[in-house]
Amino acid sequence: MKISLKVGKVENEVAEAVIVFFFEKFHEDKGPDGVYKKLDSALGGMLKDLVNNKEFEGKGDQVLLIHTSKFLKAKKLLLVGLGKQDDFYLDLIRRRVGNGLKRVRDIGTSKAVIAMPERIPQKFKTADIFQGIVEGAELALFKFDKLVSEKEKEKEKEIKELTLLLESRQDFKEAQKGVDAGEKLSSAVNMSRELIIKPANFSTPTFLAEKAREIAKALRLKCKVLSEREIKKLRMGAFLSVAKGSKEPPKFIIMDYHPRRAKPHTIVVVGKGITFDSGGICLKPSKDLYKMKYDMAGGAVVLGVIQAAASLKLPLRVVGLIPATENLPSGSATKPGDVVISHSGKSIEVQNTDAEGRLILADALAFAKRFKPAAIIDLATLTGACIVALGDQAIGMMGNDQKLMEMFREAGMQTFERVWELPLWKEYEEQIKSDVADIKNIGSNGGAGAILGGIFLKKFVGDCPWIHLDIAGTAWTDRDKDYIPKGATGVGVRLITQVLRNWK
Ligand code: BES
Ligand code: MN
Ligand code: ZN
Repeated sequence: MKISLKVGKVENEVAEAVIVFFFEKFHEDKGPDGVYKKLDSALGGMLKDLVNNKEFEGKGDQVLLIHTSKFLKAKKLLLVGLGKQDDFYLDLIRRRVGNGLKRVRDIGTSKAVIAMPERIPQKFKTADIFQGIVEGAELALFKFDKLVSEKEKEKEKEIKELTLLLESRQDFKEAQKGVDAGEKLSSAVNMSRELIIKPANFSTPTFLAEKAREIAKALRLKCKVLSEREIKKLRMGAFLSVAKGSKEPPKFIIMDYHPRRAKPHTIVVVGKGITFDSGGICLKPSKDLYKMKYDMAGGAVVLGVIQAAASLKLPLRVVGLIPATENLPSGSATKPGDVVISHSGKSIEVQNTDAEGRLILADALAFAKRFKPAAIIDLATLTGACIVALGDQAIGMMGNDQKLMEMFREAGMQTFERVWELPLWKEYEEQIKSDVADIKNIGSNGGAGAILGGIFLKKFVGDCPWIHLDIAGTAWTDRDKDYIPKGATGVGVRLITQVLRNWK
């Protein structure tokens, strides 16, 4: 979709469909140059009638399509309500834009216009509003159709051009900044979404590595992919124990965005890259098993974060690490009870081969320390227990540094990729003690599943500030949301990039 910004007036716009936003009580606007007054008079009092009939009053759940070709140069207007002005928050713009655009797309519009909403409360910055508009648009219209045959594709409707209308020239530069950021962020999110949705027979560890190289080449950053031989040399016994059951070769992907004028901090972002999780010898039941292609969401999001950081030219060194492998059962697979030696030297009893995410992350986290990072961030579809605890609205956040967690809470509200903290009290550590090794990979009594994942990982970061994000419940959605189509959400890309943008 081509997005362009332009200064102009809604009532003069020549277009197939124009989307206009209204807060409640918009008809009480007394100013003569407001959009309401101008549109209403061009439409012969139609807007006033709609308000009087309570058909459209700008309520937060109201949307109304009207045919306007007899009155305006625009063929159709989509009126979208924003609710009460005092209740406005940034995510509303993403949602209402997403909704509005899907609506005009579905009636066959290929070129749409969106007018900047009037009367947005002062404290919201123009750049943020425009970033939100672009995110709402690009994220809502995402479709994965690479595996649909050409013939089927022809039936699809698509918005090809989107024009954003700005009232005054004065805000143009600010608005353009927001548009640019919105485009870079949403293209990073959609890139990650595509990798996640893509089935495991395409989206293999080798494929992820190729994608990483492609991103690195396009953005001129460093990328190194370690082969199985090199992974063995590094003695990543925990990672290798997961890869053992599969014929797909594992890859350890290292991305390094190191801008010349960087702050003296390195942030390492680690993502779980299980391209398919069958459970291994502790085989999962077949219901919904196909969804376990999304077990590499953490890894795909790391690629998205690196792409976003580099394209936004953030002044920080950001290193991305992705241990990528399948988790399959076979004659060569790890067996429950096997003990493996991790990269850190700690021995791990693998009591359950389905708790594989923490095994591959253990080695990646230990490896991360060599960059002497100011912070390590890991994200993973780690536990079903996190879905039970928080559902699809919050990322499970754990860590050893309250300041870092506060930064995530703030970025969570800005991006609406919200986090919720679970405790990592030392008393939990009791539960992962092993009789035969340093630790075991599952708990003793079945409780606190998401926390025990975090407790396990904590053993491998030492005293480095660290955050663990369990995205099992948020990385995938089974229903369409306003700007999150059914499937992979790409959650984490905007959140982590926002933390990096806020970094002091
Ligand atoms: N990838 C799964 C977690 C998961 C489950 C993600 C459902 C998304 C949806 C993870 O590897 C796993 O299997 N975890 C086990 C851990 C248990 C054996 C301690 C789980 O959650 O059951
Ligand atoms: Mn598993
Ligand atoms: Zn898994």
